[in-house]
Amino acid sequence: MKGIVLAGGSGTRLYPMTRASNKQLLPVYNKPMVYYPLTTLMLSGCREILLIVNPQDIESYHRLFGDGRQWGLDISYALQAKAGGIGEAFLIGRTFIGTSRVGLILGDNLFYGDSLRAMVERGAAGSNATIYAYYVSDPTAYGVVEFDAQDRPISIVEKPKQPRSNWAVTGLYFYSADVCEVAQATPRSARGELEISDINAHYLKAGRLDVERLGRGYAWLDTGTPSSLLRAAQFVETVEDRQGLQIGSPEEVAWRMGYIDNAGLARLIEPIATSEYGKYLQRLLAMA
Ligand code: DAU
Repeated sequence: MKGIVLAGGSGTRLYPMTRASNKQLLPVYNKPMVYYPLTTLMLSGCREILLIVNPQDIESYHRLFGDGRQWGLDISYALQAKAGGIGEAFLIGRTFIGTSRVGLILGDNLFYGDSLRAMVERGAAGSNATIYAYYVSDPTAYGVVEFDAQDRPISIVEKPKQPRSNWAVTGLYFYSADVCEVAQATPRSARGELEISDINAHYLKAGRLDVERLGRGYAWLDTGTPSSLLRAAQFVETVEDRQGLQIGSPEEVAWRMGYIDNAGLARLIEPIATSEYGKYLQRLLAMA
């Protein structure tokens, strides 16, 4: 299983916050936004990860992640010069994917829920394309999936003006390696993008698409506008403060998944021991 985090784009809706910084590097409460999707991918068991970023941001991402070894990962980088659509991840990442199954997550998607790990492990282990749908009050800003009376998906439409359901397609997807050929053969949309919804519609038509619905016990949060970014930060703060457990910490996930051992975690804590984050990791280690 390989994984791709797509963290390019222009972040125009968050301007001027995104004037000098990439959107996915902005904080959501106490961590860079991209930590949340990265850890979701890590929970699926994926350790070989390609980060697709804008040319002007690659240095910052290098500073943040390096080669991923500190978290037991193998992180490599590829560039997307211009936001040409989410589906471009499979053109840019073609060599990286090779013959493996691949998970793709958008760098601005935050998932939270009790059975998240089991859910993403199922997606990683499947053979069909697997996508996730979440019930939202206003689905017009998303890909929208419609189900028939037997709960089978029957259509996927990108940002419909008249949505046929309230089920939004989230930014987490798993495919077999043939997604690269599917992407190659998919025409650009009217807005000139290689749409992920067109790729998903292809799998749907071929009878090779599984849609998992995230129930009410999950949170899938948006960070696309200043208020949704603030709400996501408040959500993280509320849960973390109440539980004393953090959401989206790569160090913690790497340690819990067995990608690094106690000594590895202790090494990561050393230089940041005086920070709140370092103290949190220290507490985890002490409880082990
Ligand atoms: O968040 C889920 C939604 O994401 C899905 O419901 C939609 O089907 C899907 O098209 C997408 O919609 P958005 O309007 O949120 O896409 P946006 O263009 O904002 O891009 C989402 C993230 O992906 C954003 O963090 C930037 C990154 N991106 C996007 C494009 C188009 C890239 O890195 N490169 C790109 O070319």
